[in-house]
Amino acid sequence: MRLFLLATSAALALTSAASAREIDPLAPSGRWSANTAGQAQTPPMGWNSWNAFFTDVDEEKVVASAKIMVDSGLAAKGYRYVNLDEGWWDHRRADGRMLVRTDKFGSARTADGATSFKPFTNRIHAMGLKAGIYTDLGRNTCAQAYGPNEPNLPRGSVTEREVGLWGHIDGDIRLYFADWGFDYIKIDGCGLRAYGPDSDTVRSGKYRALAPLLDLDTVSRSNIPAVRRQFAAVAAALARYNPDGDFLLSLCIWGSANVRAWAKDVGNISRTSDDITPDWGRMLTNFDTSAKRALYAHPGSWNDPDMLFIGKGDFDADHLTEARSHFALWAMINAPLLIGSDLRKTPKPLMDIFGNAALIAVNQDPGGHQAVVAYDTDDLQIFVKTLADGTKAVALLNRSSQPLKATLTAAHLAFRADAAVELTDLWTARRSSFTRETSLAIQPRETLVFRASGKRELADGMYLSELPGDVNPAVDGVTDPIADPTIHRAISPWEGTHGGGSRPIYAGWGGAQADATPFGRQLQIAGQRYAHGLGVLANSRLEVRNHNYRRFTVTVGIDDSATEAKRPVTFAVYGDGRLLATSKPIGRGASQRLDAPIAAVRILELVATSPGATNERLPIAWADAQLR
Ligand code: GLA
Repeated sequence: MRLFLLATSAALALTSAASAREIDPLAPSGRWSANTAGQAQTPPMGWNSWNAFFTDVDEEKVVASAKIMVDSGLAAKGYRYVNLDEGWWDHRRADGRMLVRTDKFGSARTADGATSFKPFTNRIHAMGLKAGIYTDLGRNTCAQAYGPNEPNLPRGSVTEREVGLWGHIDGDIRLYFADWGFDYIKIDGCGLRAYGPDSDTVRSGKYRALAPLLDLDTVSRSNIPAVRRQFAAVAAALARYNPDGDFLLSLCIWGSANVRAWAKDVGNISRTSDDITPDWGRMLTNFDTSAKRALYAHPGSWNDPDMLFIGKGDFDADHLTEARSHFALWAMINAPLLIGSDLRKTPKPLMDIFGNAALIAVNQDPGGHQAVVAYDTDDLQIFVKTLADGTKAVALLNRSSQPLKATLTAAHLAFRADAAVELTDLWTARRSSFTRETSLAIQPRETLVFRASGKRELADGMYLSELPGDVNPAVDGVTDPIADPTIHRAISPWEGTHGGGSRPIYAGWGGAQADATPFGRQLQIAGQRYAHGLGVLANSRLEVRNHNYRRFTVTVGIDDSATEAKRPVTFAVYGDGRLLATSKPIGRGASQRLDAPIAAVRILELVATSPGATNERLPIAWADAQLR
């Protein structure tokens, strides 16, 4: 009886701790909550059919590109996924089974007409590669809505043309993974966006209505919890039908529904913007949607600014400067490296770009730290990425149409100014060195990219902001998502100058930042500038993986840019769920140094609370945060 009582009260204590956490997301959990399921310890590399062929895809084209990936040596350098995009399906049979378009994928033909992609994935696997498939979270697809005259759209009756996952998550995922043997799935969201009762697609009588859950232009019109639930159901089905864990979930809702803040908890890669096109301005837009989200990318889950468009338009063989920039930038921000060109026709200079082993190594570095902005203007940006061995990769991007002179300093790299910094150019392998600073000429649209080694400012440790892959903003304090106004607004490749232009649409403004406030300013507390630290809103909880450091020190305070003058914030540091250090309640204009012993701690949590505060008015700083 007594035992029973004890057990019951322990269970009660557990339940109330769990429900306390449900009620209070700021309560320390002692665990890392970002996604680690699936195969994305480093960003995926491979090839996808869309940018090369759009819906005009067939088996010969895909297998030929796969073969060239192997024969050219790209596969040996890490490119291994061969991904089908839209255009593979025929229709959904009355019993729910999806059928492959066998006039395009001949090997999928079966005697009973049920079709199977198994021979195709066998072929891809036999080449030592992995195979990816494509679907939609709704009933219908993107091309059905936006490319009604494209080839290879699904055929048949209204319901037969409903090829998306809606109502079929379990059956489709089982078919694609357990039966057909795919390893990767990209899931689009057009079915949740383009089939409202008043849409032309539905009015045409060809499609059933589905009340939209997504609105790309207006975050308040998206049903964020409902979209998350759908993806969570897919993730659960993927785990169910891949007991070996060999799957990859790619979310493709183009930065809508505030996905730039939560995809890290659900899938392996997530599109942060609408589609890339082979235009310099558009590439900048896509890059910008991921480039300042370093804290939202970790081993297991990466920002996806869309596939490479090297091979066409501004990134073809006549534009090697732009093509190299595109590749270097994707490498620096840990973007998936998914080739989008027809490899049968890709000229050697472009193949050489895909094959740049030094840049691939930067992208695939096991540390998993996305580059952080070290210098920021509309014309020139400097990005610095910490590599697992403590050296850095640094990229200087000339976004403008003018040649520029840039000064790179040791401080940009968190290296000491009194010791030599060695640079290796990752395009030419040329080596150079400088002390304190160096002046570099950068051509229009050029990205200079180097590997850099030097004496670290912190001889026996790291600034926490050098390690964004080890920081997870479990709660970033953003209560009402706001569109990010800092993303490049290119002329729309589809609408040209019709309408009112490209307005800010991608929510995420106010998210956690490395070496900046949530609104992109330099960190400053009580008049003192800090080059290093984490900026986040109050009422936030950051999870930090500790790789054998013994001591954590930090200066905490409300950032001087806060418009809230009266409300104090309390800062607390936890280690595996236990309180290690806490501040007094601190008002704007004051700071406090905290010092926490963290030997043997696995997960640190940094919690900043200010009950009842209007969050967007209270940016706070974990300034000069150091791990030693
Ligand atoms: C959307 C996606 C693209 C591609 C197409 C296919 O536009 O964002 O990447 O998959 O659908 O129709």
